Amino acid sequence: MGPAGIKVVSDLLPRIKTENKVDVVIAQAENVSDGKGITQEDFKELRRIGVDFCTGGNWSLFKDEIVPIMVDKNQPIIRPANYPEGTPGLGYKYLETDMGKILVISLLGQIVGRDSEKPTDNPLKVADKILKEEESTKKLTTIVNFHGDFSSEKKVIGYYLDGRVGAVIGDHWHIPTADAMVLPKGTGHITDVGMCGSLDSSLGVRLDVVIGRWLDNKPSRNVLEADGRMQLNAVLIDINETTGLAKSVKQVQVIK
Ligand SMILES: [Fe+2]
Repeated sequence: MGPAGIKVVSDLLPRIKTENKVDVVIAQAENVSDGKGITQEDFKELRRIGVDFCTGGNWSLFKDEIVPIMVDKNQPIIRPANYPEGTPGLGYKYLETDMGKILVISLLGQIVGRDSEKPTDNPLKVADKILKEEESTKKLTTIVNFHGDFSSEKKVIGYYLDGRVGAVIGDHWHIPTADAMVLPKGTGHITDVGMCGSLDSSLGVRLDVVIGRWLDNKPSRNVLEADGRMQLNAVLIDINETTGLAKSVKQVQVIK
């Protein structure tokens, strides 16, 4: 979430990677530039500080400048796959690693805040379609990022894809849920992984701004919190290289 998110990831990620022998880092990046969208510069910065692949959400396409990168198969960034036909960018791509290809898919829940009016295709059917199309490609595993509001939706898609993908990781709330687990057929899951950025804020936005708006009932611009305590939320997924399924999913929550 904004510059605070980049800063906390850049400060903490190297140690987390070393301590846990992390091979690949995937981040949901839709809020990285001023809280809405992704600039080319911030995408490059995330790559520089150790993020291998960026998934998406309802703000992924807010800044037009990212589109040429989104449409390039070789650039590790995607937007939700269940946007209607003709939406710029790609909703899934492969990440090449030393251990093999990882298929990464981004999906949007059908009820996401103000964007719930915008048309999206059924995420379950879109996931089926992608998995069928990519069935014959040899891959290490498949990671799905499901960006949605409803915990029920996020649970259901986890169980729907259980045993077919390595992990289904929910997000969008910015608040982590305490339910990281391996589902019965071997898919790693969490309802919401949480955010990286300011801790003492309203989801990354300055509290005085949000409280003032709430008291006055007048619309105002979001101002991101840049100071104070920071948080990094993530999950560590251990993938079985033979089956492509999850051996474990462990939450990481660091306050700095
Ligand atoms: Fe979002």
